Amino acid sequence: MNARAAPRPAPARTRPSQLAVHESFLAHRGYLWARVAALVAAGAGLLYALDSPWPRPNGGTALGYGLGTVAAGLIVWLSLLGIRKRRFTDGQWSLKAWVSAHVWLGLALAVVATLHSGFQFGWNVHTLAWALLMGVILSGVWGVILYVRLPRLLSDNRATASERAMAVELADNDRALEAAARPLADREAALVKAAIASPAVGAGLAERLAGRVAQCGTAAALGAIGPSDPALAPLRQLLEVRAALLARIRTNACLKTWLQFWLLVHVPLTLALLAALLAHIVSVFFYW
Ligand code: HEM
Repeated sequence: MNARAAPRPAPARTRPSQLAVHESFLAHRGYLWARVAALVAAGAGLLYALDSPWPRPNGGTALGYGLGTVAAGLIVWLSLLGIRKRRFTDGQWSLKAWVSAHVWLGLALAVVATLHSGFQFGWNVHTLAWALLMGVILSGVWGVILYVRLPRLLSDNRATASERAMAVELADNDRALEAAARPLADREAALVKAAIASPAVGAGLAERLAGRVAQCGTAAALGAIGPSDPALAPLRQLLEVRAALLARIRTNACLKTWLQFWLLVHVPLTLALLAALLAHIVSVFFYW
């Protein structure tokens, strides 16, 4: 028998793509899109500085048309992210690459569109389109802050437990409270029943965003069952555990609702922008 030692497996090497998995969408491919966006914004700024149209810069000069075409093209492309997000593909044009390009080119668009306007603002559909664009961009910046901060906040809040584990913990607490309430007087039993029956998270948007439940049965039971009666101490302890668990569940729902709420701002503003952009283009070409 050949006594040679079996060849040792080569040390596992981390491929660059594996490293990139943990890279934020902002830093995707070494800030490639930040650099492209900086070039686009700087290029537009340089052309604007070199241009000397008569009587003054505006959207109707040769450069104004050029910048307007780039801005309109970018707006349409940025709007397509909603469709792209719902398709699953990987590789160079992964969703992460799209979002990275979306964010950075979206910021560059603020420069391109403002230079396209030549700073000619007024109470008209053109300025409305520009204002909506700024609104979409600002809401985008807010979205980036949420997307960067929330995953961290969510995992900190959950500590080691997953959402499912928190739900299981709550169900265990329900059962323990039910058992503890059986020998109690009607008043305390009713308080416990109300605590179990009251919703874990608020039903309405306002309650979810605030991370509170206006009429929380657990808080009411804790308020009514004071710490003075030693016979009720085990019940109180279970209610305190429940209150702490509910606080974590509510914070979790609150953070996730903020992300959904953000979409309710960014997307309708995008739709309003597309409508205003169409009105702007139609009015420029047909009613000039
Ligand atoms: C004209 C400019 C822009 C338009 C038209 C636009 C439009 C959109 C649309 C349609 C979506 C997809 C929403 C969905 O259906 O889920 C989206 C997502 C997003 N946008 Fe924008 N956006 C613009 C600018 C920006 C800017 C400047 C930023 C950041 C600085 C930004 C950040 C984001 C983020 C973080 C998402 C979520 C991506 C994800 O879900 O992974 N957007 N945007």
